[in-house]
Amino acid sequence: MMKKELLLTFTNENTRPSVWLMRQAGRYLPEYRKLRGQAKNFMDFCLNAELAAEATLQPIRRFGFDGAILFSDILVIPYAFGQEVTFVEGIGPKLSPLENAEKPLSFLKQAFTEKLSPVFDTIKLVKSQLPAETTFIGFSGCPWTLACYMIDQGSSKDFFNTRLLAYQKPQIFKQLIKTLSEAIIWYLSEQIRAGVEIVQLFDSWIGLLSAEAMKEWGINPTSYIIQEIKKEFPKTPVIVFPKGGYWNYSPHVQQLKADAISIDSSVPLTSLQAAAKRSYIIQGNLDPFSLVGDIGNLKNDVQNIIQKMGKEKFIFNLGHGILPQTPLENVYQLVDLVKSGKK
Ligand code: CP3
Repeated sequence: MMKKELLLTFTNENTRPSVWLMRQAGRYLPEYRKLRGQAKNFMDFCLNAELAAEATLQPIRRFGFDGAILFSDILVIPYAFGQEVTFVEGIGPKLSPLENAEKPLSFLKQAFTEKLSPVFDTIKLVKSQLPAETTFIGFSGCPWTLACYMIDQGSSKDFFNTRLLAYQKPQIFKQLIKTLSEAIIWYLSEQIRAGVEIVQLFDSWIGLLSAEAMKEWGINPTSYIIQEIKKEFPKTPVIVFPKGGYWNYSPHVQQLKADAISIDSSVPLTSLQAAAKRSYIIQGNLDPFSLVGDIGNLKNDVQNIIQKMGKEKFIFNLGHGILPQTPLENVYQLVDLVKSGKK
């Protein structure tokens, strides 16, 4: 049996990197689609502890990943701030307007506790059923990415309104980022208290920003969140996923003081420092489209990554979430390849 330390310490003195996949619970799994049918809508699904716990465990039972990521969504935070969040089939999330985006939001612990308590119940339920060797991963969106959905009221190709506000009303925007940071610190701390062992911060839209703005709305607030989490939970590893962002600027990664950086598929692995020289762990970065395609090509891509990254300070993952079109057989093959430790 593999040791839990595999993901917690991110090293495997045995033979292989650890492996889990972003969006490993989802529509590519027939058992997920069935379970999802039991809830009225996606938000109810996320906030139903029994269903969410089951969705968390499904991919573990099927594939034996080293990490189980909590089943929920980053948009439960806007929901806790009072926005209505709905998911429209084929379009994505839709949020009601952020009331008084001009006024500073306040983070009200009581409202958050009331609305988000099912998430902590999910964590406790999963914890009681998770195999001992599987590491439990909690998560949150980063302030910038959450602000994008809150201000643009859903998905967008460029999050125009959010970027406009950041430049036209920087003081108000700064306050919003600060409030979101406080909410995220509280939320992740509660997740850790309830039982998750690692937390991942998703900054899916940080790549839209200029280098300067990235520092102000990405690196600075995210390092503040990490610093606060570490004060109370110094041993809980933190992974940051700055998609399309400041991944390659090693000083920035150092400044974040994250334990691990999750890199998207655009990052050339040859540009990364060798494991021996790095103080942080790399997670990534197979293109999710490769996982949908021809098995021969997939095997090449997986082996290429393993060969470049080795087994130290490396977690095998995708560069972004699994696509609903992913064949189950490909996921079995991927896990098998990583677990067999073949280079
Ligand atoms: O398995 C896991 O990774 C855990 C659960 C998880 C979900 N969303 C479930 C989900 C996690 C960690 C997320 C993160 C998330 N959610 C992000 C950050 C990562 C990224 O993808 O960039 C973002 C931006 C969101 C917001 C979100 N949620 C969007 C834009 C959508 C619609 C797009 C889509 O894939 O349908 C969602 C819906 C969503 N979240 C689904 C799942 C499984 C699909 C909903 C369904 O079942 O119909």
